[in-house]
Amino acid sequence: MKPMIIRPGVSKIGAVHFERRLFDSLIPLPNGTSYNAYLIEGSSKTALLDTVDPMKAEVLMEQLKDVSKIDYIIAHHAEQDHSGTIPMVLEKYPNAKVLCSQKAKGFLMDLLLLPEEKIITVADGETLDLGDKTLTFIYAPWVHWPETMFTYLKEDKILFTCDFLGSHLATSDLYVIDRCQVYDAAKRYYAEIMMPFRSFIEKNLDKIKDLDIQIIAPSHGPLYDDPNFILDAYKDWVYHKPKNIVVIPYVSMHGSVKKMEEYLETSLIAKGIKVEPFDLTVTDTGELSMALIDAATIIIATPTVLAGAHPMAVYAAYLANALKPKTEFVSIIGSYSWGSRADKQLTEMFTNLKAELISPVFIKGYPKDEDFKALDNLSHTIAQKHRELGIL
Ligand code: FEO
Repeated sequence: MKPMIIRPGVSKIGAVHFERRLFDSLIPLPNGTSYNAYLIEGSSKTALLDTVDPMKAEVLMEQLKDVSKIDYIIAHHAEQDHSGTIPMVLEKYPNAKVLCSQKAKGFLMDLLLLPEEKIITVADGETLDLGDKTLTFIYAPWVHWPETMFTYLKEDKILFTCDFLGSHLATSDLYVIDRCQVYDAAKRYYAEIMMPFRSFIEKNLDKIKDLDIQIIAPSHGPLYDDPNFILDAYKDWVYHKPKNIVVIPYVSMHGSVKKMEEYLETSLIAKGIKVEPFDLTVTDTGELSMALIDAATIIIATPTVLAGAHPMAVYAAYLANALKPKTEFVSIIGSYSWGSRADKQLTEMFTNLKAELISPVFIKGYPKDEDFKALDNLSHTIAQKHRELGIL
């Protein structure tokens, strides 16, 4: 892909990875991804902002073929999908220096074996003069590693945010064209990568609120020439109270749990509550993570296997706990044949959630009249809790 001009002297380079389907050997990438790097050529100095995943190193090096000098490589984040090609760039430009936050220095030395003398740390708020272009470095820790920072290009009013505000979306569009597509991809990205760091996101959003920004340039996905599109979306995901939604990740082996889930689902819907069930045997974890952003309540539904919860239900509980959504209420439903510690096992996993536990409904065998009554009571309690929260 050829460099794309953003402003005179400022271009987007990097690679679009259309065919990639998994990130970190964990996160599904239904729409591929991109590794955006940026070249800023000032009247006296040239800076490269981030690089690409080493899998696409040759794409970046081809784009740099006619670039005679790079003075600075700005490393916003040490994770290898952005930093991994720095050693190759340094080989081509041996006089270049790597600029990064104080915390990033050790990470770059550990992860990439960069020599210490190649690295210059910059302070929060420090500026770098490229001649007719001025970069300001803004520390933005924990989006999503402790060393992350942004760069603001004053003359062109561009904020480079690396992972923050990005999306795993492979597209040849420079800017957002299809808002629905990008909204979904950015929401998925937020859910999977950023949501556990919500309190830091609040601080970082606050830190950039007075900047005059015309373009937000992240390191994954298209750029935002209407910054409020993504900033408003983040404000909704981060600040606003959860919605009148119950997410039910479930797994059933012989039909008892499925029957319970369906009964509870119908009962909740009848009370005016939106329900999002996820059959964990076929669930894309990204879709489940996105649903957790808005859910006021999570109910995990599991059968009993080897005297405990089904491993897929354990994974759903692990994920919900690790992602730390805004969820206010959690509960468990499920079934066993001769004995179970599944409900206790799952509820004990919610150590990170600041959610109230509603009494689980855990039954013996296939659901009977009294079990349906217990599910009605659960649904009644959830409706009451949602009303008290002001969302129903
Ligand atoms: Fe896109 Fe945290 O790396």
